[in-house]
Amino acid sequence: MIYWRVNIFQFILIFFLVTKISSKIEFTNLKCTSLDKDFTDFDYCYIKSINRTYKYVSLKVKLYKVPITNVTVNFSFMKRSSGYKLFLYNITADACKFLKNPKSNPVLGYMYGLFKSHSNMNHTCPFDHDLVMEKVSSDFINNQLTQMLPFPEGEYLFKTNWMAYGILRASVNAYVTLT
Ligand SMILES: *[C@@H]1O[C@H](CO)[C@@H](O)[C@H](O)[C@H]1NC(C)=O
Ligand SMILES: *[C@@H]1O[C@H](CO)[C@@H](O)[C@H](O)[C@H]1NC(C)=O
Ligand SMILES: *[C@@H]1O[C@H](CO)[C@@H](O)[C@H](O)[C@H]1NC(C)=O
Ligand SMILES: *[C@@H]1O[C@H](CO)[C@@H](O)[C@H](O)[C@H]1NC(C)=O
Ligand SMILES: *[C@@H]1O[C@H](CO)[C@@H](O)[C@H](O)[C@H]1NC(C)=O
Repeated sequence: MIYWRVNIFQFILIFFLVTKISSKIEFTNLKCTSLDKDFTDFDYCYIKSINRTYKYVSLKVKLYKVPITNVTVNFSFMKRSSGYKLFLYNITADACKFLKNPKSNPVLGYMYGLFKSHSNMNHTCPFDHDLVMEKVSSDFINNQLTQMLPFPEGEYLFKTNWMAYGILRASVNAYVTLT
């Protein structure tokens, strides 16, 4: 029994090491949409290619009805195969509650870890200022993602919907390829 467990463990470890070397995320598109322009809008939202191997994403969100004390986010990973289909996660969470205790939701905590050091969103509610995410590079994401379970190669869409007071206000969709 113990012997079997060790083998599984080794198998997983090898899998991780292999994907660590071979899996690479690259941004292909970033779409930011305001669904309520009286409430919020995007100043900018883009992918910048510095050179062939270095790309980053930046975005700035203007908030017109501050302070905001009630934020819900929902997100999902879709994989492309004749249209984007749900691949992993379809999660809705109370962002204000989460920010008070980031350990309360491991999946969200993981996502948050991917950008919090590059964003001014890294504090508890309320939000009374414009939100930015600056220069999150694919290299940075790749370094963070090494702890993640291996994903099959392909084109993915990381879809996020942002609600305030229960109303959908904005969406941010990141398209990536995994090679
Ligand atoms: C691409 O740009 C980054 C950031 O400026 C730099 O660190 C890296 O060396 C560059 N790579 C190549 C191949 O020029
Ligand atoms: C996420 O939000 C979208 C848009 O409001 C909605 O269609 C979808 O059902 C939501 N997902 C979950 C898990 O609530
Ligand atoms: C996410 O879940 C909600 C409710 O649980 C559902 O209505 C919605 O269609 C799901 N979204 C996707 C993309 O599967
Ligand atoms: C949030 O990020 C800023 C800039 O990166 C940093 O100065 C600040 O200490 C961070 N705050 C928290 C609570 O992590
Ligand atoms: C946020 O607003 C929604 C819709 O008004 C409500 O259902 C929810 O309970 C609120 N969340 C908090 C923490 O007050």
